[in-house]
Amino acid sequence: LVSAVPLPEPYRVPLPVPPVARPVAPDRYLITARVAEQEIIPGYRTPVLGYDGIFPGPTVETRSGREVVVRHRNELPVPTVVHLHGGHTPPEHDGWPLDLVLPVGDTSDWTGHHGMPGDVVAGERDHRYPMAQRAATLWYHDHRMDFTAPAVYRGLAGFHLVRDDVEDALPLPRGDRELPLMICDRSFAADGSFAYPGLDRGMRGLPGVEDAWTAGVLGDVVLVNGAPWPVHEVDAARHRLRILNASNARRYRLQLDGGVRIVQVGSDGGLLAAPVEQDAIELAPGERFDVVVDFGAVPVGTDVTMTNALGEGRTRDVLRFRVVRAARDDSAVPDVLSEVEPPTVPADAPVRTFTFARGALGDHRGWTINGAAFDPDDARYRTPLGATEVWRFVTDVHHPVHVHLDPFQVVRRGGSGPGPFDGGWKDTVDVRPGEVVDVAVRFSDYRGRYVLHCHNLEHEDMAMMATVHTV
Ligand code: C2O
Ligand code: CU
Repeated sequence: LVSAVPLPEPYRVPLPVPPVARPVAPDRYLITARVAEQEIIPGYRTPVLGYDGIFPGPTVETRSGREVVVRHRNELPVPTVVHLHGGHTPPEHDGWPLDLVLPVGDTSDWTGHHGMPGDVVAGERDHRYPMAQRAATLWYHDHRMDFTAPAVYRGLAGFHLVRDDVEDALPLPRGDRELPLMICDRSFAADGSFAYPGLDRGMRGLPGVEDAWTAGVLGDVVLVNGAPWPVHEVDAARHRLRILNASNARRYRLQLDGGVRIVQVGSDGGLLAAPVEQDAIELAPGERFDVVVDFGAVPVGTDVTMTNALGEGRTRDVLRFRVVRAARDDSAVPDVLSEVEPPTVPADAPVRTFTFARGALGDHRGWTINGAAFDPDDARYRTPLGATEVWRFVTDVHHPVHVHLDPFQVVRRGGSGPGPFDGGWKDTVDVRPGEVVDVAVRFSDYRGRYVLHCHNLEHEDMAMMATVHTV
């Protein structure tokens, strides 16, 4: 999608770092989604749908084992639902796509909106997050039925970092040298607003996008933490980058120039067992990679540029680090990071196949799982708590498959072992065209109704989602 504004020169705008949310009381947060204007393209005002009016939203930081309550208030003109991606969350707090939070003071009848019932509330909802999970890079975003893609595109996404003692005891870079990086592509209309080819620009009734974009909306501007191709001044020292691909549909292969090596220390579900050196990292929408890079390896004054080998033209550019000063560095990447129990798949573990493919939805085009569109009442997929199952994902084109509630481990990709980007606990796995990926899933607790879906947000909105019951 070609922007109608002049695109800025890369590596001029400073990298923003989202503020850390302050609790309103111990372990309680209030986040208000509202419309605000933000200068993203220099000289233009972009209306954003922002958590606390900013994009990315404030970063929520919590401790493993310490329950928090996040009150999400909706001052947007449309309903919303918040999901904590990677959260081990009871079903009523998980952001079921029909559990709408209606706009504050809005009395229009949204309830019959989809002809499907959910737990609809007015104004705000408290999400209780037990945080009974290890340290990891999570993120929260809109998850409203049919309208997740335009809502996230317009700004409804933020980081949620879970910390724990295991990770705190490691000498990894911290403070200013730990950076959350939310990477996403967007396009801009002539007035500076986000250009999204939705059929209903008001996001009120009619879901879907123009025919040309049903495979996924691709922008021509790469934003990092909401800024186009930013630049960041750094010490000549190790830095920890928590990279999230928050794009609707774009995949990246990120590499660094200048001979700076990328050491992967974590994945969606937190630290790996041991660091892995990578030439580049590939991320599909929804995935996170936690990496350590050592800017002390290059002379002060060097520019180190992160580029996207899968991009074309301007989408090859991502972010530049400018190494500006020598500094003391006590950080290190230990050989042992954390305990990750290898997946044990019993010989008699059930194998469930989910086939992700284009399909017809009534009279328009859409995306299906096992030939079916999302059906909240579907009772086909029932997994007992505590049981290990092999879920086999089969695809036509690229689909990043995301499972709610608990992380999984990749056991096979394309007939052999896990690929180079499959290590550790994952909650989103990129399944490539025509590929078969087997993952070992086990849900530990919380009985209820969750979803499994494609994290290409256009595919998700066009029904590539399935109801999963934990029983
Ligand atoms: Cu990041 Cu069900 O979503
Ligand atoms: Cu998909």
